[in-house]
Amino acid sequence: MKKKINFGIIGCGLMGREFASAAARWCHLKTELPAPRIIGVCDVNPDMTKWFSDNFSGIEYITNDYKELLQNPEIEAVYCAVPHNLQESIYIDIIKAGKHLLGEKPFGIDKKANRSILAEIKKRPDIVVRCSSEFPFYPGARLVYNWIEQNKFGRILEVKAGFNHSSDMDITKKINWKRQAKFNGEYGCMGDLGIHTLHIPFRAGWLPQNVCAKLSDIVKQRPDKDGNMQSCDTYDNATLICDVKDKDGSVFPMTLETKRMSPGSTNEWYIEVYGLDASAKFSTNDPNAFYFTQSWGKEQAWARIDLGYKPMFPAITGEIFEFGFTDSILQMWAAFISELAGEKPLFSCFTPEEAYYSHVLYDGALKAFHTKSIVSLTYTEG
Ligand SMILES: NC(=O)c1ccc[n+]([C@@H]2O[C@H](COP(=O)([O-])OP(=O)(O)OC[C@H]3O[C@@H](n4cnc5c(N)ncnc54)[C@H](O)[C@@H]3O)[C@@H](O)[C@H]2O)c1
Repeated sequence: MKKKINFGIIGCGLMGREFASAAARWCHLKTELPAPRIIGVCDVNPDMTKWFSDNFSGIEYITNDYKELLQNPEIEAVYCAVPHNLQESIYIDIIKAGKHLLGEKPFGIDKKANRSILAEIKKRPDIVVRCSSEFPFYPGARLVYNWIEQNKFGRILEVKAGFNHSSDMDITKKINWKRQAKFNGEYGCMGDLGIHTLHIPFRAGWLPQNVCAKLSDIVKQRPDKDGNMQSCDTYDNATLICDVKDKDGSVFPMTLETKRMSPGSTNEWYIEVYGLDASAKFSTNDPNAFYFTQSWGKEQAWARIDLGYKPMFPAITGEIFEFGFTDSILQMWAAFISELAGEKPLFSCFTPEEAYYSHVLYDGALKAFHTKSIVSLTYTEG
């Protein structure tokens, strides 16, 4: 039998369940990685923990007090998926308790909260802390990253990355914490969706030097569960345009889109890299496809490869089958567990330092929007 790592989950909502489901199909992976065993769950809402006790026989500890979970010496690692306003205090307590942590974006409601989390991480080099971001684990996204690493694009002309939704186009959709700044944060859609767009660019070393921002708060009110109108005070859509310096010193524009009101988009994550020698694009709208073009001087033709199932961590699924969202979650978890096992995956989870860079960018974007200017960005923690 594979070695086991005992996990606790804090926050048993949408994402807490996704992790539990990925852990339940660990047999899918053809690796010797230890398997996560969820032994404890915590949520303030007992309705949310019921799904876990109904579906998993191995859960020994169920609580509404996360501190109780953290005191449990059997729990080695924690997945924490709670509203953004709670991340600072809960992540810090998890780290202080010496548990490995896969936390959720935006890794602190704002830059100040993020820095407090980072300061605590620095005191505990013995534990692994990472931030959830699954889309780069799609085979098509990995191929884009491999091409960046192999310098296949030549001089970069432009990069575009985005993560767009459209369910908020329904203006009668009920309000939830993600649409209220006091829970979600002032970043609005950027804090909720943005990290996903940054994982590959940051890993490529493409840190924006400056930012210019267009932020839209389109829907100002939404009904609550009783039909009463509540303030919906978060930005729905954001488009950021940045200058990025490449390794060779050349500068190119990078456009980052995060939208909750993007007609036709259902969880549409994409990355497009345009270069002098080659260009490539991948979108979860067409998850089996990798589009690329090579430059023959004046003319280029887009070609499409059907990728099949070629994930970073081998799995039992045949190579001709298609890859999907839940596979990307499983692969992300395999990357995290491999780091817990002391391995260095080919592509690792979003790091706390990268999360800090994202806060520098979004903090700068707010300033750029409010002052209608281009804001220079520096990433030193001064
Ligand atoms: N990686 C992704 O693709 C992805 C997708 C959606 C959300 N997220 C992130 O995951 C996190 C959670 O989002 P979600 O969609 O799962 O939200 P959710 O509202 O579905 O779940 C959050 C859960 O936290 C619980 N909770 C609140 N306070 C708590 C406390 N003090 N102790 C324990 N539990 C508490 C709530 O009762 C709720 O069940 C957020 O940071 C969000 O940005 C990530």
